[in-house]
Amino acid sequence: MYSILLVLCITSYSSSASNTLDGTCVNPTTLSFIENSLTNISDQLKGSSCSSDGATTEGLTGLLQLALVKELAKDYKDKSCDKEERNLLNRINASIANKIDASTAATDARLNAIEPQLTSLQSQVSSLSSDLNKLSRLLAKHVNVTLDDEEEAPSSPLLSSCDAILSKWPNSPSGYYNLADVNGHSHHVYCHMETLCGKGGGWRRIASLNMTDPNEKCPTQFRTYSQNGVRACGRPVTNSGSCDGITFPSRDIKYSEVCGKVIGYQDGKPNGAAAYHANRDINSAYIDGISLTHGNPRKHIWSLISGYTDINQNQCPCGSHTPYPVPLFVGSHYYCEAGCHNTQASFNTLYTSDPLWDGKDCGSIETTCCQRTLIPWFYRSFTHSTTDNIEMRLCCDEGTNNEDVLIKEYEIYVK
Ligand SMILES: *[C@@H]1O[C@H](CO)[C@@H](O)[C@H](O)[C@H]1NC(C)=O
Ligand SMILES: *[C@@H]1O[C@H](CO)[C@@H](O)[C@H](O)[C@H]1NC(C)=O
Ligand SMILES: *[C@@H]1O[C@H](CO)[C@@H](O)[C@H](O)[C@H]1NC(C)=O
Ligand SMILES: *[C@@H]1O[C@H](CO)[C@@H](O)[C@H](O)[C@H]1NC(C)=O
Repeated sequence: MYSILLVLCITSYSSSASNTLDGTCVNPTTLSFIENSLTNISDQLKGSSCSSDGATTEGLTGLLQLALVKELAKDYKDKSCDKEERNLLNRINASIANKIDASTAATDARLNAIEPQLTSLQSQVSSLSSDLNKLSRLLAKHVNVTLDDEEEAPSSPLLSSCDAILSKWPNSPSGYYNLADVNGHSHHVYCHMETLCGKGGGWRRIASLNMTDPNEKCPTQFRTYSQNGVRACGRPVTNSGSCDGITFPSRDIKYSEVCGKVIGYQDGKPNGAAAYHANRDINSAYIDGISLTHGNPRKHIWSLISGYTDINQNQCPCGSHTPYPVPLFVGSHYYCEAGCHNTQASFNTLYTSDPLWDGKDCGSIETTCCQRTLIPWFYRSFTHSTTDNIEMRLCCDEGTNNEDVLIKEYEIYVK
């Protein structure tokens, strides 16, 4: 069964990529409903198997299998299958027929008891648009299948990266897919299938925020700013320097490349890479801005730094007026820009006219800061793949009454 459904799924997909059985968009609520129902039914069958007619349990299990396989097969019966797949379908059918015979005799109360559940289960299964791999795994877990196993099944039917899905089915659209993590557990993830960062498609989104959308909220670690119709996320109120972070879980899925974008605003008087009041190590507020790292201990990915003004006292490493260097671990992996166009920035002022790190509106003393190939996107690749979580920290070395750097939006992808 396991291998058969896998074969059907792949065949159907490649023969008709535009139909609904495209391997995408499975509804996790439906799947967990099916999983729970199967467990519940199994439990009920187990609990009542003390009766003398031993055939009944087997019959009911067969019926359950029938209900599910029928629904799955229904989706496929109109598709053109080559001879071998027809053969497989026939064998499934034959196996079901045998089980039905066994269960015909078993019209006892137990059968009636699970009837409504089966019906409901069937309708849930029919409403499933796809994801036979996951379903067949559920079935294999709950139902014994006794077909010959000529077709070799791969040990894990789920692929483990968006990139692998795209390699296998090059026309896959962006959307939700199930991936296996390093422990074989399934995760429902968003795959971006178009090119990003000049490195092709097959990217898994691990974080996104768009505060321009009135329905989106700041992560609870941050404070929501709302001023003149602009919404953004900053540090909670503090009288001293601080870093406030959010962790984006890798979900134990491997990656070796990161492509992302963060757009922010200057608030008050941030000082670029000057970090007067901080140690310059990766755990401190070594910049006024956003530090993206992975793993524990932290390893640097990218720094997004707010300068002081873009015509005076810029304090960006890339600025031509009062440049400050970034720590060695940052190297050239940073963007730095100021949002204030005056000679002096003011406390408690949100500079909304020039968003940061979008590669636009760099002032005369920071023009080189905007001359970066991928900006606003940044890209890193690692020599080894990792399942490290990615951490985004909002760091400033002075209190929020003096300075803050706000987040307008971000998108982080890995592959
Ligand atoms: C199993 O299904 C029965 C009948 O629908 C229901 O009463 C019971 O609460 C369910 N048990 C669980 C654990 O879901
Ligand atoms: C499945 O088997 C039944 C009887 O065993 C038969 O009537 C039906 O046509 C078969 N269906 C397919 C698709 O082979
Ligand atoms: C499943 O198969 C195993 C081994 O073939 C057997 O021991 C077990 O009783 C079967 N379970 C059911 C529910 O048929
Ligand atoms: C953010 O949301 C706004 C409003 O819904 C929308 O116009 C904009 O395109 C979104 N930005 C991104 C990057 O998705």
